[in-house]
Amino acid sequence: MVLAPNGHYRRIRRLKYEDLKMLVGWDSDAEINRLTGRKFHETRVDDWWRAIVRDRSRIGFAIMDDEGRLIGDVELEHISWRIKEAELRISIGDKTYWGRGFGTEAVLEVLRVAFEGMSLQRIYLRVQEDNERAIRSYAKAGFKKIARLVANGRLSGNTDLVLMEVIRDTATLANG
Ligand SMILES: CC(C)(COP(=O)(O)OP(=O)(O)OC[C@H]1O[C@@H](n2cnc3c(N)ncnc32)[C@H](O)[C@@H]1OP(=O)(O)O)[C@@H](O)C(=O)NCCC(=O)NCCS
Repeated sequence: MVLAPNGHYRRIRRLKYEDLKMLVGWDSDAEINRLTGRKFHETRVDDWWRAIVRDRSRIGFAIMDDEGRLIGDVELEHISWRIKEAELRISIGDKTYWGRGFGTEAVLEVLRVAFEGMSLQRIYLRVQEDNERAIRSYAKAGFKKIARLVANGRLSGNTDLVLMEVIRDTATLANG
């Protein structure tokens, strides 16, 4: 799988095995954990990597700063090639980059990959309703709130989630 077509991507590249060390470090940060849930809690790092590489329903990207340094990762998961949709998950692990536009840029570039490169029609995500920075960033990238998911059962006591989506036909894509 590709980053193409017409691909000039400033903020994202394909994830490399060497990136994992940084991702594992960020994964143990309590604040990031609360916002994103843990990546490597129940899954061994090598198993996670194998799934990212082999599983056609997932694709992982590194997020880079202007100098090409790794600052986080963004993933399309639960890709349904038949229904043409996927779920987006993002985490900027280096907190010094929060609130500086990098997340929105990365999301816009992933939307370009999803809609132009992969011909998907819809990207959705779930976000905690009190994660205002993330919700604002997703809104800037064109996501709309479509539902509120109440945390109950096993998740009782957690913050409720907001379901957001962007549809290909109405999306504004990052310039290549
Ligand atoms: C969520 C995330 C990807 C967003 O990326 P980002 O680069 O920080 O976001 P941006 O700078 O592009 O946009 C953030 C917007 O929220 C605003 N913002 C920042 N902090 C805020 C806060 N506490 N409350 C409300 N708005 C806030 C910013 O001002 C900006 O809006 P503006 O451009 O209109 O001024 C990133 O912050 C991150 O990875 N956070 C930790 C993990 C996480 O929450 N992941 C998402 C889980 S669903």
